[in-house]
Amino acid sequence: MAEQSEMTKERWLQRRSEDPFWRKAKEMGYPSRAAFKLLEIQKRWRIIKPGDKVLDLGAAPGGMTAVASEIVGDDGVVVAVDVNPLQITRPNIVYVKGDVLGTRLMHELQNVLKGEFFDVVVSDLSPHHSGDYGLLVEQQLELLEAVWTICRKFLRRGGTVVLKAFEHPSLRRFERKFGRGFRKFERYVPHSSKKGSSEIFLLGFGYRGVREFIRVEPASAS
Ligand SMILES: C[S@@+](CC[C@H](N)C(=O)[O-])C[C@H]1O[C@@H](n2cnc3c(N)ncnc32)[C@H](O)[C@@H]1O
Repeated sequence: MAEQSEMTKERWLQRRSEDPFWRKAKEMGYPSRAAFKLLEIQKRWRIIKPGDKVLDLGAAPGGMTAVASEIVGDDGVVVAVDVNPLQITRPNIVYVKGDVLGTRLMHELQNVLKGEFFDVVVSDLSPHHSGDYGLLVEQQLELLEAVWTICRKFLRRGGTVVLKAFEHPSLRRFERKFGRGFRKFERYVPHSSKKGSSEIFLLGFGYRGVREFIRVEPASAS
């Protein structure tokens, strides 16, 4: 059994070293290949602007955080949230260790923002893939619902959202709800997404900002 898992790890490392985006990320000093997905989206829609406040959910190890940090520059900020640590530190990056499914994160974001709002929310969150696709989709939908709640609380009117999801018929219901919140809605599969992956990015432009009251529960030990 131990031998098999060793083999699996070896194969995984071998495949990773053959991945051109992984190699390019290493060359360019990006902590992960995910950087190129955000670069593609940025090139096509220019979602992030210098000076923006960006919320990056599921940020570790920090490929997308690095890209967003380069674009927002010295006048902007990237608030990077993950349960795991980032492999990058820069003056315009604020790392918040947190679980998007917990209530404590809402308080932390409130403290960081001090009454202001994010211009852009990027979510590359994904649960650990156990091999059960149905379970992955279900857990991803739970993460998407949590992100949507965070957006409705902290995204400015007119703001932009980029969300990673996984293709599945059960995604449609979320998409309809999400899409209604924006002036324009797009679906996009980056060329840098891994071959055979079913990931898809949902993009909302021009948040309508129908701000309902979302109560931030008192911080618990979650
Ligand atoms: C595909 S990775 C993100 C890659 C990253 N965006 C980058 O550019 O390097 C997905 C991330 O989601 C995080 N994650 C999963 N569930 C989470 C949760 N409930 N709260 C916070 N982070 C979570 C994982 O720890 C993992 O780092």
